[in-house]
Amino acid sequence: MSDKAPVLEMRNVDKSFGPIDVLHEISLKVHEGEVLCLLGDNGAGKSTLIKTLSGVHQPTRGQMMMDGQEVRFPRPRDAQEMGIATVHQFGGTYPLMSVGRNFFAGAEPTKGFGPFKVFDRQKANQIAVEEVQKMGITRITDGDRLVGGLSGGERQSLAIARAVYFGARVLILDEPTAALGVKQAAHVLRIVNEAKRRGLAVIFITHQVMHAMAVGDHFAVLIRGAIAADFRKGEKSREEIADLMAGGESMADLEANIDGMADA
Ligand SMILES: Nc1ncnc2c1ncn2[C@@H]1O[C@H](COP(=O)(O)OP(=O)(O)OP(=O)(O)O)[C@@H](O)[C@H]1O
Ligand SMILES: [Mg+2]
Repeated sequence: MSDKAPVLEMRNVDKSFGPIDVLHEISLKVHEGEVLCLLGDNGAGKSTLIKTLSGVHQPTRGQMMMDGQEVRFPRPRDAQEMGIATVHQFGGTYPLMSVGRNFFAGAEPTKGFGPFKVFDRQKANQIAVEEVQKMGITRITDGDRLVGGLSGGERQSLAIARAVYFGARVLILDEPTAALGVKQAAHVLRIVNEAKRRGLAVIFITHQVMHAMAVGDHFAVLIRGAIAADFRKGEKSREEIADLMAGGESMADLEANIDGMADA
């Protein structure tokens, strides 16, 4: 693994919005079959970082590399075409679309040809349901079901299954477990492991240390837009990671403060 170039890499990337500097000298890499967890407090710059990796924003300075070659993604579509699938925070699927439609949004299988091309609903539904089931979501059996009626975990799973099916090499998930219950979150974590097993490089953003530890091979902690720590699985304890995420303050001290407020 280590002698192969990383699938995706950032080298000294800065990102500013006008006078506001959000990312500073970000360097990170992710290899195939590896999960990189990006950790950090609210406003640390996590979403900005992954939007830069997925062509939503352009880096102000620095380089992005794929398989060791410099790349640019002027538009999100350019990143998608290079095999970077991103499930953005608070998004990803359209509630009023069916499972089958959603799965093929932008890449619909058609039957007939020329002006007679029509969306092949049955085929789309069949493939979508099969692929989602392969990811272990056996409760979705009807491709005509509206996405809005799925649970948060099922929607995330659908978005991940879609990325895998269309041959993504990099899967970027911005807080996929944030709004989920324990069981649903466990399911999404299992699917992340499945994507990794299939050789995808995964960048997984979370606030939850336990979720990160369940899937991460490599960890990067972002504090105020800079990488404050970068380490591999097993190199830091849960407490150390939680302290880093709290911006270097000890969680024990923070908790003592909260207890103090409750007593007052
Ligand atoms: N388009 C923009 N213009 C100006 N500032 C922005 C823009 N997008 C993000 N920011 C600022 O960049 C900082 C980082 O935001 P970002 O959304 O990347 O944080 P985050 O780590 O994803 O936070 P959260 O955990 O809350 O999702 C914030 O201070 C935010 O206000
Ligand atoms: Mg965010």
